[in-house]
Amino acid sequence: MSSWADRVPAVAMAMLLAAATARAAGPGHFGYGTVPTPEQIAGWDIDVRGSDGAGLPPGKGGVSRGEVVFANQCAACHGTFGEGEGRFPKLAGGQGTLTDDRPEPTVGSYWPFAPTLFDYINRAMPMPTPHTLSSDDVYALTAYILNLNNIVPNDFVADRDSLPNVRMPNRGNFIWTDPRPDTKAAACMSACVDPATITITSTAEGKDLTPRTTGPLDDMQPK
Ligand code: HEC
Repeated sequence: MSSWADRVPAVAMAMLLAAATARAAGPGHFGYGTVPTPEQIAGWDIDVRGSDGAGLPPGKGGVSRGEVVFANQCAACHGTFGEGEGRFPKLAGGQGTLTDDRPEPTVGSYWPFAPTLFDYINRAMPMPTPHTLSSDDVYALTAYILNLNNIVPNDFVADRDSLPNVRMPNRGNFIWTDPRPDTKAAACMSACVDPATITITSTAEGKDLTPRTTGPLDDMQPK
């Protein structure tokens, strides 16, 4: 009877053969797997960009439809009016509390962009059965939650055109002013520091802080 060690080469050979067969049969650069269908890609490609709503699908839904769907699918955890049952998160209220000792971050008090609400519900809720709602129902739920927060009127209809135009109350507060004295006081994206004011007093160069290796990892060392 052959020992385990004797059989290893046979196993290795079988794996090589299997890999070679896959390489011959499989598509694409790596030689394995299958090409996804357009439908499969569409199932994954659902992200919606908050700032401008890019990626929002067709469809629409209003506040009153959202109230019905919310009562059936969401209220058990989030409360009928978004007040939150037990330790499940509140979806409404909390405006003006963000600087309190006990801030209440909710969709209404904290979130900067309305399209993100569609995106979140669409990919993650209802928690036990995500990806089971139609786009129309997700739009309706988005409208209802915005209405609970007094951000949109009762007759608001959420769709790919209306959501990017909703101005969220906390929209303007996602900035941070750098308190260091050698940076500009105002928020900036370019030329934030005057190079003339910077004096470099020490660098790591020449201090041998990163051990050098020899061999293939040499390629990964900074040149
Ligand atoms: C079984 C309980 C449950 C149900 C039902 C449920 N949710 Fe949630 N929901 C949660 C939990 C728990 C979280 C927090 C998840 C986390 O932070 O990772 C959450 C988070 C959320 C948030 C984000 C809150 C925030 O400010 O971060 C939204 C919006 C939301 N749910 C909407 C819905 C909607 C709409 C429905 C109905 C379609 C729904 N949920 C159904 C449990 C539930």
